[in-house]
Amino acid sequence: MTGNLSDENRLKGLARQLSGVRVVDLFDDEADRASNCRCEAAGLVLDYSKHLLNKEARKALLQRAESAGLSDSFEKLTGGAHVNVTEDRPALHTLLRGTRAGELPSLWAEVEKVNASLTTLVTDIHGGKRCGFAGTPFTHVVNLGIGGSDFGPRMVCRALRSPEDRMTAHFVANVDPQDLDETLSQLNPATTFFIVCSKSFTTEETLTNALRARNWLLSSGATKEDLGQHMVAVTTNIAAAGSFGIREADCFPIWDWVGGRYSLWSAVGLSVALQGGWSTFAKLLAGARSMDEHTHQSRGKNNLPLMLSLLEYWNTLYLHSDSHVVLPYSQRLEHLPDFLQQLSMESNGKRVDLSGAPISEPTAPVLWGSAGTIGQHSYYQLLHQGNRRFTADIILPLSNAGVDRDAHRKLAANALAQSRALLTGRDAAAAQALAQERGQPDAFGPHYEMPGNHGHSLIYFNAVTPNALGALIAAYEHKTFFLSRLLGINAFDQWGVELGKVIGRKILKILETGEGFDAVDDATAVILRAWRDANPEP
Ligand code: F6P
Repeated sequence: MTGNLSDENRLKGLARQLSGVRVVDLFDDEADRASNCRCEAAGLVLDYSKHLLNKEARKALLQRAESAGLSDSFEKLTGGAHVNVTEDRPALHTLLRGTRAGELPSLWAEVEKVNASLTTLVTDIHGGKRCGFAGTPFTHVVNLGIGGSDFGPRMVCRALRSPEDRMTAHFVANVDPQDLDETLSQLNPATTFFIVCSKSFTTEETLTNALRARNWLLSSGATKEDLGQHMVAVTTNIAAAGSFGIREADCFPIWDWVGGRYSLWSAVGLSVALQGGWSTFAKLLAGARSMDEHTHQSRGKNNLPLMLSLLEYWNTLYLHSDSHVVLPYSQRLEHLPDFLQQLSMESNGKRVDLSGAPISEPTAPVLWGSAGTIGQHSYYQLLHQGNRRFTADIILPLSNAGVDRDAHRKLAANALAQSRALLTGRDAAAAQALAQERGQPDAFGPHYEMPGNHGHSLIYFNAVTPNALGALIAAYEHKTFFLSRLLGINAFDQWGVELGKVIGRKILKILETGEGFDAVDDATAVILRAWRDANPEP
């Protein structure tokens, strides 16, 4: 375990004491549990009363946070310390939204300079000053990017989509040509604007799609000169974008001190501004900044991201939960679980600590999920009657302007019903009574039993607005960082993604040339030959 021994032994002891305890009974033991187990920040409310935590355990976790020096770590993170120790870099995604800008003037000046050129681009495109090769304004923007250069803007554009939008945003990430083809088949080349979004500008999927998109424009009447109008790059690697053919004036820099999965707040968010206007993007940044300020100022149980991280730490290391399911009861937030998968699992899916020493305990739980109520008719069976340990975040925007009230009410009813069912379950007696009620033999009872007692949080806020969304994402970013500190790992590198890419390039050569099969195992060679047979050279 990663903290000091007394903290850990205390927490282990409390976990033993609480095993077999029903959370529902903790409400009887603690009269004001509902108000004790909630905190508020930047318009969000976190209710964690349905986790298997009593007062002692909460106190011990907060002590653990103290001894781990989490608030100092947060100061270091937002102050520009080289917290990304294996790459010897800061992780200053908070600066992108202006947090502690006054203390980092030279870096902030760079951010402001890029934001100014982004604002000009957005104004020029919305105003028709910058338009397509046929002289008509751009109506559609296609973001070509993957991972952190896709999940964030895709999730935010989907969440904030509205009839008032200035442009329609599309996202293409996969190297499977189907992805780009299906998107382009709906679009008119003359009115389509492309963002080649790649921090490294070396990512195969993105460069392949960018090349194919460029050929699509050229084969649709655009000249080489016109391409400059239709395509910009967002990257740290201006030189590579230049070699690809994108003018420096059309390159919007991001910095190596921003992790890909934390880069939404940079030019990576350009599609958000093109869709909804710069003011929408500015509100998203403001929401995140308010969560940064809350996280700076708030102590202990009043610090929302800190509580989120302690809940995950407790459930994963002491209650042995091995997965975390994120259930946004909002179609607008349907891409949130995908975004959080990269944020959480690419950050904390680690097996060695900061010194490189192996870690025997579990680190990041498997994160999964989908928009409520869809999952209820799929994997909720496992949640309610499976025998896996999991925790959940049920996320509920209370209002959604302009939608059908009755249907919206049903959505909320389902979210809270699932929370109740996860808490109470259905015990043996109730299951038996149901079997009798349905005229089934007593032996049928266990089929109706549901253990319940599944620890989960409710996160609710008024509506999916740019501010609320910015605050929500920032809360999860800070949760992820705090958890990495509790686990003693580096949240900002991702060395584990490299081997697949290296092998991928070798295998691509074998597929291209039909040589070198002995470089792989026989089983792989068989499939490679099968692929080549299925795709003979034209
Ligand atoms: O392969 C993983 C990864 O490096 C992510 O960390 C990153 O967000 C994604 O690929 C895309 O990288 P880039 O923005 O450099 O194209």
